[in-house]
Amino acid sequence: MIEALNAIRDEALRRLAELGADAPEAEIRDLRARYLGREGSLSVAMRGMGKLPASERPEIGRLANEVKGAIEEAFETAQGALAARERAQSLASERVDVTLPGRTPAIGRVHPLTQTAERATEIFVGLGFSVAEGPDVETDYNNFEALNIPRDHPARELQDTFYVADDIVLRTHTSPVQIRTMKQRKPPLRVIAPGTVYRRDDDVTHSPMFLQIEGFMVDEKVTFGDLKGVLTAFLQEMFDKGTRLRFRPSYFPFVEPGAEVDIECFLCRAKGCRVCKGTAWIEILGAGMIHPEVFRAVGYDPAACSGFAFGMGIERIAMLRYGVNDIRHFYENDQNFLEQF
Ligand code: PHE
Repeated sequence: MIEALNAIRDEALRRLAELGADAPEAEIRDLRARYLGREGSLSVAMRGMGKLPASERPEIGRLANEVKGAIEEAFETAQGALAARERAQSLASERVDVTLPGRTPAIGRVHPLTQTAERATEIFVGLGFSVAEGPDVETDYNNFEALNIPRDHPARELQDTFYVADDIVLRTHTSPVQIRTMKQRKPPLRVIAPGTVYRRDDDVTHSPMFLQIEGFMVDEKVTFGDLKGVLTAFLQEMFDKGTRLRFRPSYFPFVEPGAEVDIECFLCRAKGCRVCKGTAWIEILGAGMIHPEVFRAVGYDPAACSGFAFGMGIERIAMLRYGVNDIRHFYENDQNFLEQF
């Protein structure tokens, strides 16, 4: 038995050595199974130990374990060497260029229209205004009637819109937020209302869906001078410290007097260019003193209060601010365009 075990060890080690350093993994594994596998010669020999006399068993058992350990170790060494060779080979053939620039993840940014609305909001908040909101889907009453635009008023023609039902529209301006706010609160009020509005309009400078900021102030003795002061402060902050304003008489049914406000063209320094169409002035917003009929509609006493209101398009301001010549750029989600802001 002793000789048999020694012979098995010698044979296993010899044949493993014969396989040589370049033997593929599968051959090493097969050879290992021939000795150590369940039907391998060492396993078979060890099973035969049961037949030995009890006195010989401890010594033979010890030797059998020694032989097993020696064979296992030899195969582990051979397999380890093979794995190390393979790793060295793959390291030598695969190249990683650590000098290549990394891939920077693309980070989004705030849309230029949102930036413009946020900047405008910031300026008005600095002037003591607070922010109010209203729904895009509005009653005909809040959007028109309460703003002194009755059913058959020709002013409706200019603000044709999408009707959700007979008396429900997509709001054509942010002015209905005046109505909502005044119905809920009492003066003094200093409020701005940024939001989306809708009209039947579509060309290079008009979109059927666009953004406005409404602003209004109501107190006991608000004057046109207050309106001028607030708008001058705002527009000079938004565009240029030296910007001059021009108020042209105009008509909006919900204000009296009403005005359209222009700023001096900051692109050509009021010499006349393509943007100001040679006039040196750029129309920027509508404004006026809140009409007594509007106060009556919300339950205020027109004799006891006064106020101003104004409304402007965010796209128009953004186009001027950034020199964008087509309003549709803002809605196309073109990365090359948006990346510039
Ligand atoms: N709501 C008007 C418009 O969209 C603008 C405006 C607001 C004019 C407030 C005067 C006062 O055309």
